[in-house]
Amino acid sequence: MPDYMFQLESRLSPEQRAAMVRIQELAAESEANLYLVGGAVRDVVSGMSIRDLDFTIEGNPSRILRELEKGGAKLTKEDESLRSAELVLAGEVDASISAAREDIYARPGAKPDTRFSTIMEDLRRRDFSINAIAISLNPNSRGLLLDPTNGLADLERHEIRALSIHSFTNQPVRLLRALRYAARMGFKMESRTAEWFNLALERKLQETISAEDAGGELRQVAREEKPAAILKAWESHALLEVVNPTLQKRHPDYEAINRIFRVREDMVSSGLRPRLFAPVTVAILGRLKDSERKAALSRMSFPSSELRSVQDVEPEALKIVKLLSGPKTASARDAYAFLEKAPLDLLAYILAESNNGKAVSKIKSYFSKWKPIRQALPGVVTELELLGMERGSKFDKVVEDFFQLQLLGRARKPEDHAKILRKLAGIKEPPKKVEEKKKPEKPKKKGEPGYKQEQAAAAGGPVTPPKIQPHRMAPGKSSPAPTSKPKPKPKKK
Ligand code: CTP
Repeated sequence: MPDYMFQLESRLSPEQRAAMVRIQELAAESEANLYLVGGAVRDVVSGMSIRDLDFTIEGNPSRILRELEKGGAKLTKEDESLRSAELVLAGEVDASISAAREDIYARPGAKPDTRFSTIMEDLRRRDFSINAIAISLNPNSRGLLLDPTNGLADLERHEIRALSIHSFTNQPVRLLRALRYAARMGFKMESRTAEWFNLALERKLQETISAEDAGGELRQVAREEKPAAILKAWESHALLEVVNPTLQKRHPDYEAINRIFRVREDMVSSGLRPRLFAPVTVAILGRLKDSERKAALSRMSFPSSELRSVQDVEPEALKIVKLLSGPKTASARDAYAFLEKAPLDLLAYILAESNNGKAVSKIKSYFSKWKPIRQALPGVVTELELLGMERGSKFDKVVEDFFQLQLLGRARKPEDHAKILRKLAGIKEPPKKVEEKKKPEKPKKKGEPGYKQEQAAAAGGPVTPPKIQPHRMAPGKSSPAPTSKPKPKPKKK
């Protein structure tokens, strides 16, 4: 049996691991059973990147939430009646903690009654089998996989399988979710699920999806790695209509979405983790007029902080572009200092959308040259220590001055570092080594190689160079043409 705990721990980021450890500690203190559920488990098993951590607890998570808040976690949403909360923990770790519960529907599609329950009942109330798997985080069964609806087999079959004939009737927003997972993971709907899906569309259940639920799904799409594929799937089933009727008619701005995602790929390959929710939302709604976009966003009940971040993208990006093309950031030093503080998502937006060459080229230099120079500074710190300088404020200033020189294009060659660091730190150059006197070579005997040249040199005559043996080449390669002078190396630009 695969070791799921090992797989999980090795796939989490250090920040996610720290968050999980803390929540486990708090659950153990409360003597409550804790499980990792839903998306994170699905993503561990299927080898996808783990986005957020959803925890389910058999009991009330309220004490754990308060303790996490004391430790600096931010609660972004809390539903006391459902005993459920979404939060952001240190290192921007998105998580949710909910009490295990059962949804009881008096009739299909009615508002459900909640009954707090065990983890097994909780897993069975969920949308699709691939989302109904849990990993135990309890001391006695840590790493045990709970899969009551056989989601593992569906992950292997690459299928989205709804857990009940009433799945879409009970929660029509699952129509959007089914297509979202299928497009994201390249899965197809299991045959009966596809029938239920089509039946739900025939019965126009999509028209009953609340604007808030549709907004929640659009917010999720803006965080996806490939939002265009999902939006196209929604569009082809006329489900964008639910999100926004004008968007279904005018279409999302797919080109803008792709431009942002190309920038994102570049950033990710340079080790950055940009959160592009706001610029991607702007791109999705890019073909809507200003007033239409505002109306669409407020109808979907985006949380106010997210609403603001979306509305700020264009004006804030414009301010940055203006500053980057003006005198305040003319020097690399000033541009770097400014860009260090600029929000990453706005820089990504400018790289994707702006045609201001000056601003774009500064942002490119920032990512491709200036940031790598900054990241290499620990090496310079070591060099300075080796030169004998003691740590302290003067030491830090030398390192900073050295960095500023590098921003100006100087001090970039490693062989120049020591000399420049000495100069900046006021350390004297070491005395030059006195060359050791060479022992006079024994005169060559007649017949020894080099004898003739030595004799000629002693007589002041011309010296004929010794014959150079041609290199032995690998079979099939011809020997290099003899050259009289070695070619100068091309200058580095
Ligand atoms: N869920 C559900 N029905 C819904 C919404 C959510 O059953 N209408 C359950 C699913 O089990 C899902 C979990 O709640 O796995 C958490 O929902 P959400 O955070 O939206 O999805 P994730 O599984 O975390 O997937 P991702 O964030 O990767 O899209």
